[in-house]
Amino acid sequence: MSGTPLVISITSGKGGVGKTNISANLACSLAKSGKRVILLDADLGLANIDVVLGLTPEYNLFHLFHEGMSLDKILTDTPYGFKILPASSGASEMISLSTGQKLELLESMDAMENRIDYLLVDTGAGINDNVLYFNLAAQERLVALTTEPTSLTDAYAVIKVMKQNHGVQHFKIVVNMAQDKKSALDVFKRLYNACDHFLDGVSLELAGFVPRDPAVRKSVIAQRPFCVESPNCPAAKAVEELAKKVQTWEVPVNLDGNIKFFWKKLLFGN
Ligand SMILES: Nc1ncnc2c1ncn2[C@@H]1O[C@H](COP(=O)(O)OP(=O)(O)OP(=O)(O)O)[C@@H](O)[C@H]1O
Ligand SMILES: [Mg+2]
Repeated sequence: MSGTPLVISITSGKGGVGKTNISANLACSLAKSGKRVILLDADLGLANIDVVLGLTPEYNLFHLFHEGMSLDKILTDTPYGFKILPASSGASEMISLSTGQKLELLESMDAMENRIDYLLVDTGAGINDNVLYFNLAAQERLVALTTEPTSLTDAYAVIKVMKQNHGVQHFKIVVNMAQDKKSALDVFKRLYNACDHFLDGVSLELAGFVPRDPAVRKSVIAQRPFCVESPNCPAAKAVEELAKKVQTWEVPVNLDGNIKFFWKKLLFGN
């Protein structure tokens, strides 16, 4: 397998809309179809991919930045065919590294370029700097929301900041915890119309919707992805569809390599 990796952030305005569950299960689903995936836990301070997956990674990006530990040592295998990269230190801390340290870090990311197909980035909620850094560095942004009005207005706020302050125009949308397809489409249309009216040039694409499914909560309690725990549950089927969609997304080509591009933007801000 070869090809250029794609970096996708999974983000939201409102917290608790299902980013971590979608990220972990999307990683799982992509891995099931033979893709090489790394899931970066970028919900700094509130890291919980490890909790959802029932893992206790020994090291995280802090050890890479400050203790010179190798990337391979930090990448943690999961029993689900993908790896996780735990991040416990803030993006702002990365930015305060010396230029030498940043370049060294960038070098170490070279190794990832030919070894993965997708780098998924599970961000925190909201529009603080840490979240923004990761979203701006990613090549695709998957904005999660639910059918609750507050989640809709918060998703709009995230899109607005990224468009107006940073010129980001394209967003993929996933509606989670929807009663049915109709209510998912309704909320997508409302977001679409708001962006169409007030944010010139923004384009939104509905990447998928995941129904409200009791199997999700059960899998969180069991600390195993629902794609593995209940592979035939409606949520797992929906994430499988999402994974298929993701595989149709065009991968931009950067001269530096896409992974390096991501880290470069994260570290140097451009
Ligand atoms: N499709 C679903 N059906 C039912 N429950 C769900 C679904 N998706 C998520 N949940 C529930 O919502 C809770 C929050 O999900 P999750 O932790 O993935 O959200 P998050 O957006 O990552 O939150 P945070 O903003 O705190 O990082 C989960 O514990 C789970 O029980
Ligand atoms: Mg989360």
